[in-house]
Amino acid sequence: TLSAADRAKKAAGEKVAAMVEPGMRLGLGTGSTAAWAIRALGRRVREEGLRVVGVPTSYAAEQLARAEGIPLVTLADVEALDLAFDGADEVSPELNLIKGRGAAHTREKVVASLARRFVVLVDESKLVDRLGTRWPVPIEVLPMAAEPVLRQLRRMGAEPVLRMGKCKDGPVVTDQGFWVIDARFPGGIDDPHALAVTLSTMPGVLDHGLFLGLATDVLVGQADGQVRHIR
Ligand code: A5P
Repeated sequence: TLSAADRAKKAAGEKVAAMVEPGMRLGLGTGSTAAWAIRALGRRVREEGLRVVGVPTSYAAEQLARAEGIPLVTLADVEALDLAFDGADEVSPELNLIKGRGAAHTREKVVASLARRFVVLVDESKLVDRLGTRWPVPIEVLPMAAEPVLRQLRRMGAEPVLRMGKCKDGPVVTDQGFWVIDARFPGGIDDPHALAVTLSTMPGVLDHGLFLGLATDVLVGQADGQVRHIR
């Protein structure tokens, strides 16, 4: 039996899978919520013969989609995506996001930015009044630049830590071979747009987990199976 949180994630995932139409080029998100969508999509591919192609946002999403029988392509094969779906760690009232708890935010942002619709799948616990209140901002960084970036973040008043592996000694290594710094901003983030520019222009930073102005839809799953659609 599923926990209340898993039932909510499943509801949101199944909802977006039902929104997919034949011929769509899809972005396949990463994380426990997006996985429900990939599984529900795989069911439609196998049972209805639904014809779609997907661009995975991580090695994990790629493996799951392959196991589910969803045909995969790369960004060399498709110029644009009709719809991308993904989870999030925080969603603000303006539909701005913090992502990257799964360390996949760089690829996720590339894929989301190419999608006509970017559908975010969450449960109620992800909705916040102000970004940064609950989660740090993940920053993917070139290993040799980690210390200067940590120092600069501390000077900005942030509380950054290098993300360490749970089943590995030393730092978490991303699908691209980079490291991840988690920067907590005490009291939350005043100006997400200004922060996004600052982080993007730090030498050695590949990308950060602030997703601003990208989400077109948010599906908020509930434990009773209902889904609230915000756009
Ligand atoms: C992956 O790097 C993340 O951006 C995930 O999409 C995000 O952390 C949401 O994951 P869950 O759906 O598992 O909460």
